[in-house]
This record gives sequence, C-alpha cells and structure tokens, in this order.
Amino acid sequence: MKCAADQSKTRRKFLRMLSASPLLASPGFLASFFANSAGGEVTDKKFLGWSDSFQQSDEVITSPDQAFEVMDFEPAARKALPPAHFGYLATGVDDDGTVRANREGYLRIQIRARRLIDVENLDMSVSLFGTKWNSPIVLSPVSAQKAFHPEGEVAVARAARAQGHLMMLSTVATSSIEDVTAAAGTPVWQQLYPTNVWEVSRAIVKRAEAAGSPAIVLTVDLQEGSNRETLFRSQLVDKRECSACHKSAYTGFARGRPRAGSGGFAAYAARKPMLNGLDLSKVTAVQPPTLNWDFVKRLRDAVTVKLLIKGIVTREDAQLAVEHGVDGLMVSNHGGRAEETLRPTIESLPEVIEGVAGKIPVIVDGGIRRGTDIFKALALGATAVGIGRPHSWGLAAFGQPGVEAVLEILRRELRTIMRQAGTVSVDKITRNYIAGRSS
Ligand code: FNR
Ligand code: LAC
Repeated sequence: MKCAADQSKTRRKFLRMLSASPLLASPGFLASFFANSAGGEVTDKKFLGWSDSFQQSDEVITSPDQAFEVMDFEPAARKALPPAHFGYLATGVDDDGTVRANREGYLRIQIRARRLIDVENLDMSVSLFGTKWNSPIVLSPVSAQKAFHPEGEVAVARAARAQGHLMMLSTVATSSIEDVTAAAGTPVWQQLYPTNVWEVSRAIVKRAEAAGSPAIVLTVDLQEGSNRETLFRSQLVDKRECSACHKSAYTGFARGRPRAGSGGFAAYAARKPMLNGLDLSKVTAVQPPTLNWDFVKRLRDAVTVKLLIKGIVTREDAQLAVEHGVDGLMVSNHGGRAEETLRPTIESLPEVIEGVAGKIPVIVDGGIRRGTDIFKALALGATAVGIGRPHSWGLAAFGQPGVEAVLEILRRELRTIMRQAGTVSVDKITRNYIAGRSS
C-alpha cells in the first residue's frame, strides 16, 4: 500500500511540475489541455502523451485527507470544474508570468534556522485591529465562488469558522454578506469594488457596516483592462452553453476589455447579492479607471470602520495611503490577474513595509502555497498573509471540508517551520531568519 501511495504521490508531483512549467503558458499546450478536459479533440499531437496523463483519475486526490500539501487540491479542482470555470480560477494575464513570479519569489528566499531554542509552546496567533486570530492566515476575497461549488462563499465561511480564520468577502461574491456572516459566526471584512457611481460605493459600505463588518478593503489594482488569455482559451474549448446557467453573457473580461452581453451589467449584477436592489443604471464598471486619491479621501470620510487598500505594491503608494488615513494595506497583485509586471508580491513587500514605517499593518497575498512562504512573508514584515486560489481549489474539489483541509495543512506547515527555525511566536519571526535576498 505504501508503494502505491508513493507512486501516486510521485505522479501527482509530475503533474504539478507540468502545470508549473512554462509550457502551460504555451497556447498549444493549453488548447490541448482544455480540449481534453472538455472531452473534445486533442489537436496538438505533440502533447498527446502528456495530455493522456491528465486523464488518469487515480492521479488526483479523491478526498481532502489524501492531500499531502495544498497543491494537491489544484488538480482535484481542475477535475471537478468545467473548463471555463477552472480557467477563470487559474487565469493570470498575458502569459501568466506574474502568477508564476509570485511563486518563484518565495523560492528565491532562504530561511536561517536557529537551534537550541525551546519551541514546545508555540503561539501562532496574530492581532488585527484588536481582534485576535489563531493564525496569520486569512482568506483573501474571491469572487463568484458558486462557480466553484454550489455552496460558494457560505461553505468558505463555515470552514473559516471551524478553523478560526478571518474571511474577506468580495463585492462580486455570489452569496450575501448577511448569509456569509451568519455562516462565519463572526463579521467578515468586506472587499470593495466601488463602481463608477458614488451612491453605489456608499451603499455597499453601509450595508457591510450594518452587517457588522469591522473593515472595508478597497481593491485598487484592477482597472478593467486585464488580459486574461488563459480564461479566454478555456472559454473557447468549453462545449457548454454559458447562457444556460448565466442569464447574461457579461463576463467582465474579454480580450483585454470589459464585455457586456445581451443582458449587460444589470443582468450580471443580478447574480451578485451585494449589488441587488441598487440603482445600477449609471454603472459602467465595477472598478472604474477614474479611481484616484480623491476617491480615497471621500471614502475615508464615509467609512466609519477600518479602511484598507488592497493592491499596493510600492513605497510611494504606501506612504500616500498612510497620509490619507488608511488603516491597513494589502500588498497584492491580484494573484497575477491584474497586469503582467512579473514582480512577485513578496519582493514588493519590503518597500511597502518601509513606506508605512510601522504605522499600519500590512497583509500580503499572491503565490502562498506553503507554511514556509508564510514564514518568509512574516519575516519580511507582514502582519498576516492571504490565500486566494488555494482555498478555492479546496472548495471546488470538496466543498467546506476541502477549504478546512487547505487551512489545516498551511497551519501545520507554519507550525513546523516555526519550531524548526526556533521561533516560538509570530512576533519572533524577523528578518534575522531570512537569507538569500539582496535587500
Ligand atoms: C481573486 N481576487 C480578488 N480580489 C479582490 O479584491 N476581489 C475579488 O473579487 C477577487 N476575485 C478573485 C477571483 C479569483 C478566481 C481569484 C483567483 C482571485 C484576488 C485575491 O483576493 C487574491 O489577491 C489572490 O487570489 C492571491 O493570490 P493567490 O493566493 O491566488 O496566488
Ligand atoms: C477577478 C475579479 C473579479 O479577479 O476580482 O476575477
């Protein structure tokens, strides 16, 4: 049995190696892969052998407890989802180079492990605006999670509750903040896509505040122009008729531009509970290209709870955020889905930390897949870290238990590296524990 398990693990590693390979960025490879997933013809013979290996169902975990690590959930999600939905989850922009860069950034950083420190009693807790959490791992906002599992954000919230994690809810979630808050058993942070209409921004904020949300997280890194080619390719090979489930053909993204189908924005918004009941007649974008610091000023005045900005990656913008009275930042490049900078968030983190000069907490997300990644981010000054795709893979593959397993694995791995490196609490994880980078 051990042998079979080992073999299966080796095969899974091989599949992951393939999925991390630059070949994934090759249109031919993607087309072959998605054609295969859709049950269509594989046209690119060059990849036939490899594509075949994707179809061996025993390569993929069939229950959360079979997972060795978080990446084991990715092929399980791919298997569970229609090609276009998996394409939406996986996509970056252009060549998906920034998605890969986020991962590679962590691989360039080494850990300096100290010895002979009593690490029997470990404290992984962190405090965010006065609330204590069991670990520094938070669930970053992910839109449309019912595209991954029928229970969507509610299943994620139940997992967050069971495992004691903070959850952030997307403006364009497919579950309402009231349902999600009830499932989480505690208020969630509300991510904000403001739209181009101030009354809509304000209404979203006020509804979140009424639901008890202690923080509004304004996302500023998506100016409605992201070129999500992996998504577009997956849509081409998905043989299903999207409009059978989606009443409108609005996708938000098409060939680098927002696209409204027959139903337009209103029909798209109808599937987004946070936008229900609002006058959307003048809305043309969830995140308008006109967004600027004046808007932040106005929002700061309107928000009575904490205000964070998500998507800051430079010292200058970090300083401006502090000057504008923002309470916290998220260093994020939208998981490589915004623009193709090829710059990993872990390499942006140090300059943002310098920019805030200890005045406000900084959370980082993008490419975090291991406990050691979390350790490195904390060592470089982050107060907490966010995960987006990993919990969505868990959700897609197994619902709430899948999300719980992802969180458990990351906490276990963080505990392991904290002990091994000789750090008994999160505040003890400092730059002294890091090597292998120049600044
Ligand atoms: C996201 N992300 C995101 N961010 C945000 O502010 N509002 C949103 O609605 C969404 N939606 C969304 C959907 C999907 C499918 C993904 C993958 C991501 C970005 C997310 O919050 C986070 O920044 C990244 O996912 C972090 O990178 P990793 O962990 O996915 O590598
Ligand atoms: C995305 C948006 C909705 O990344 O945040 O797909």
